[in-house]
Formats: sequence, structure tokens, C-alpha cells
Amino acid sequence: MTPSAYSAPVMDSRSTFKEDIFLGKVLFCTGGGSGICKGMTEAIMRHGANAAIIGRNLDRLTQASKELAEKTGKVCIPLQADVRQPQTLRDAVRKAIEKFGRIDFVICGAAGNFMSPIAALSENAFRTVIEIDTLGTYNTVKATISHVREAKGAYIHVSATLHYRGTPYQIHVSAAKAGVDAISNVIAVEEGPHGVRSNVLAPGFTTGTEGMRVMTGKKTNKAEGFSNPLGRFTEIQDVANAAVYLFSPAACYLTGQVIPIDGGAEHLRGDFFPYPSSVINPSSVETLLKAKI
Ligand code: COA
Repeated sequence: MTPSAYSAPVMDSRSTFKEDIFLGKVLFCTGGGSGICKGMTEAIMRHGANAAIIGRNLDRLTQASKELAEKTGKVCIPLQADVRQPQTLRDAVRKAIEKFGRIDFVICGAAGNFMSPIAALSENAFRTVIEIDTLGTYNTVKATISHVREAKGAYIHVSATLHYRGTPYQIHVSAAKAGVDAISNVIAVEEGPHGVRSNVLAPGFTTGTEGMRVMTGKKTNKAEGFSNPLGRFTEIQDVANAAVYLFSPAACYLTGQVIPIDGGAEHLRGDFFPYPSSVINPSSVETLLKAKI
């Protein structure tokens, strides 16, 4: 009989870390209303922190903050802001400080993505993703750094693995995430002597997220021909566990790192689409592109 491949378990960080490690701490998370960032916020709150979640859609944020508070017993406030507009972020930081008096941890997670060949991608479309991901990260750092310094806190930036190579139809996001990685490295060096740490988490295909739907057209963990060393797609919980570790005192000597949370998939990466047929004829993958090809 052929032995079946290993598939990693999905663990709750509370099985490893004490539940009170973030007691008295405050998290400020952009993009915290849904997906991976909401999952990271929940995990950090489960270990004792209060949180402010930031995004454009106040209804979604309000719903998410209620849910997070109910699940964790901690306080979560929704703050409407667009990471592309620095003043809205400054206002959100002011409200978070009014409410909690401090910001220890920041997750720069707000992001935008869609698949598009260069030929169909307008200059404005490219700029839009750079503005959300790269400038949005910078704007968030700029608005929060004095408080994070005061708290001797830490940043986590949400990036991706697709720019480690040339991923077709992702020129905008690849450029944007390369910028995010660079921003984190500079923060690590410039702010380390002030007691601030900065690291990047780079999730692979993550089950149940908007990014997964955009990149693969699916929301489930079943994909034809998919395999990686640890036998499954990334779960939000995997990224959340890494965030708990990175903000915890156990990671106090860890800064300036880019950490893929992809089960080792990057080392096995093959063609993202059938190559070169998919770039010669983009309509062969048109259901994923949803662009004007
Ligand atoms: N293909 C090609 N171009 C696209 C596109 C697509 N699928 N989606 C948006 N664009 C272009 C628009 O046409 C516009 O360019 P134009 O003015 O030249 O026509 C530009 O991008 C800005 O689009 P707009 O919808 O006005 O921007 P927005 O700020 O409202 O939203 C996104 C932009 C990226 C956030 C939007 O695509 C979105 O809401 N995505 C879902 C959230 C998401 O991406 N989550 C995944 C995170 S990994």
C-alpha cells in the first residue's frame, strides 16, 4: 500500500502560548475587518490584548469588532479609515489612543488584488494597488510609529511570496509587496535601537480568503494538482499563530525578517498558469483575470 502524505495539523496558539501574554497591550490592525487580518486580531486578543481594527467599510468593521469582542472577551473598536489617506489614519490613531492610551502592536494588512495581464492593466490600476499596499503601509507606520516607539512594540506587515519570482498577471501586487518587504527591513534597522521590531509575514494560498478567491477562483482547500511539503493550503490560523509568536516576548530578538507561511510551497513552486500558453493567450485563463482582455 502507498503511504499517504503527511498533512500538518491546524493548531490553536493557546496550546503553546499562555493566554495572558498580551494582557494590557493594544493592537492596531489595518484590514482587520476580514480574512487573515481579522484572524490575526482574534488570536492576539485571545492572548489578552485589546484591539482597534481599521478599514474602509464601517458596517463590516462594526460587525467584525462585535464578533471579535464576543469571541475573546476583550475590547475591539472599529475605526473607519482609508490607508491611502494619511489624515484618516491619523484620526484613527488618535481615536485608538483616546480609547486605550497606547498602541503596542501594529499589523499593516490592508491590501488590494486582482489578476490582470500588463496589457489590460491601466496605469491607474497599477497605482491603486501600490497606493493601498505600499503607500498604505508607509502611511500606517508614519501614523503609529511614535506610539509604537513609546511602547517598545512591534510591526507585522502582511506581504506575499509571489514577487520572489515573476508571477504572471501580478505585476502590480509584486511591485507593491516588494515595497512592503523593503519598508519593514528599514524599520527594523532604523527603529531597532529605539526598541521597535518589524517583521513580514508572507502567507501562501490561504483558505477562505478574498486573496485565494482572486488568485485561484476558489475559496476551498481543494485545488487540482496542488501539493506542498506540509500537505495542505495555508489556514488563517497558521498566519495568526505566527503573529502571536512574532509579537510575543519569545520573539524579542527577531526583527527584519520575511517569513513565508506557506508550508514550504515556495521551494516547490512550478508554473502558476500553464506556461507559456496562458501568457500567449490570456483568454485561456480568463475566468481568473476578470480583466478587459
Ligand atoms: N482588472 C483590471 N483592472 C482592474 C480590476 C481588474 N480585475 N479591478 C480594478 N481595476 C482597475 C480599475 O479599472 C481602475 O482603473 P481605471 O480607472 O483605469 O479603470 C483601478 O483599478 C482602480 O479601481 P477601483 O475599483 O476604482 O479602485 P478601488 O479603490 O475601489 O478598489 C481594489 C481597488 C483593488 C481594492 C478592488 O479591486 C477590490 O476591492 N478588491 C477586492 C479586495 C481585495 O483585493 N482583497 C484581496 C487582498 S489580497
